[in-house]
Amino acid sequence: MSTVDPQRRVVSGMRPTGRLHLGHYHGVLKNWVRLQHQYECFFFVADWHALTSGPQVSEQLAEHVREMLIDWLAVGVNPGSATLFVQSKVPEQAELHMLLSMVTPMGWLERAPSFKDQLEHLHEGESASYGLLGYPLLQAADILTYRAGLVPVGADQVAHIEMAREVSRRFNHLYGREVDFEEHARLAVKKLGKKVASLYSDLRSEYLSHGKSDSLLTAQALVREQNQLTLSDKDRLLGYLEGTGRSILPEPHSMLTQSPRIPGLDGEKMSNSRDNYIPLRAEPDEVAQKIRTMRTDPSRVRLSDPGNPEHCPVWQFHLLYSSESEQQRVLERCRSGNWGCLECKQLVIDAIVEEQQPIRERAEQYIERPDLLRSLIAEGTEKARDEARATLEEVREAMGLYYR
Ligand code: TRP
Ligand code: SF4
Repeated sequence: MSTVDPQRRVVSGMRPTGRLHLGHYHGVLKNWVRLQHQYECFFFVADWHALTSGPQVSEQLAEHVREMLIDWLAVGVNPGSATLFVQSKVPEQAELHMLLSMVTPMGWLERAPSFKDQLEHLHEGESASYGLLGYPLLQAADILTYRAGLVPVGADQVAHIEMAREVSRRFNHLYGREVDFEEHARLAVKKLGKKVASLYSDLRSEYLSHGKSDSLLTAQALVREQNQLTLSDKDRLLGYLEGTGRSILPEPHSMLTQSPRIPGLDGEKMSNSRDNYIPLRAEPDEVAQKIRTMRTDPSRVRLSDPGNPEHCPVWQFHLLYSSESEQQRVLERCRSGNWGCLECKQLVIDAIVEEQQPIRERAEQYIERPDLLRSLIAEGTEKARDEARATLEEVREAMGLYYR
């Protein structure tokens, strides 16, 4: 219901693709840990999305889901602050996906860059599945189910969030209209009282006629503060602001996470599929062994050859992990051919091992007690489902699917 403030609500999901690595940590999870204190956060494992790229070995999928949840908890995503759950445990999300499919033009899906990209990677004789085509719509349903206004994602996902926004707009346009909406809305404005009503009307026309989005945000906050109004009146006033009908599914926006570039062992982007990653929960030996094989500046063949840190992925790690004075030392020694790459890498190894120590420790309890993990997730799922049920009730009703 509209007691939800979409501007305070965050949803994000992650596909269970295998062991999480340092790229996930610096690029996504550290941000989640910050956000959980500032917003009402819903974080889920997108296991349905994992299936869109083809069948998974089932025991392996379950294992990935479990390990990923442990990774989240181990880095400090806190089930007391954020709601953690698994997508496939909330069937309402699938129902919303199906209902939204009725208002989504095929062209939107066919033109999605991620879909076109995947088509190019199909093998001879393979054809894309309906599920793959619907990937962004399923993602839209993930977000809209929780009426979240904010979605923290990387740049590669921005197009998907845009589609979610288009879908919500279209849904509200088609189904948010009640008979005599305008009249109801004007009556609701009157109920605001003279002063607030005129403020509301000014802000509304600033937004509608001059496109001032600040005015829209101010007006939305103003409406939400009006505790004397019924929920339906609040919905009407919110919808009226944007010149549509009732806003049943609020429009989401992406929150671009600006994250440092984490190169993999080969200098390319760190990823599971390239097998160039350093796992988030690695044993110290594994960290050491991986960093030692990491590519360096190719112009350094002998120890005395001067190098250029700008050409070396190890340097990116120093930028992330070393103090400024250490960084100075690295620059000088590398450029003057004054130390070996192994020595230089050792600093990085030590820093990563130290960073991972508490993460490994926090994971212990969940590895040892699967029941603990299960009950945490069951609790998160219940909370998520309560929200999902409320949304779906409004959606069904708006679409005429209620039989009393
Ligand atoms: N598609 C996202 C990715 O690959 C994962 C995802 C699924 C997601 N549903 C979501 C992200 C909803 C944000 C919100 O990274
Ligand atoms: Fe890279 Fe360090 Fe070797 Fe320079 S000394 S090339 S920064 S690993």
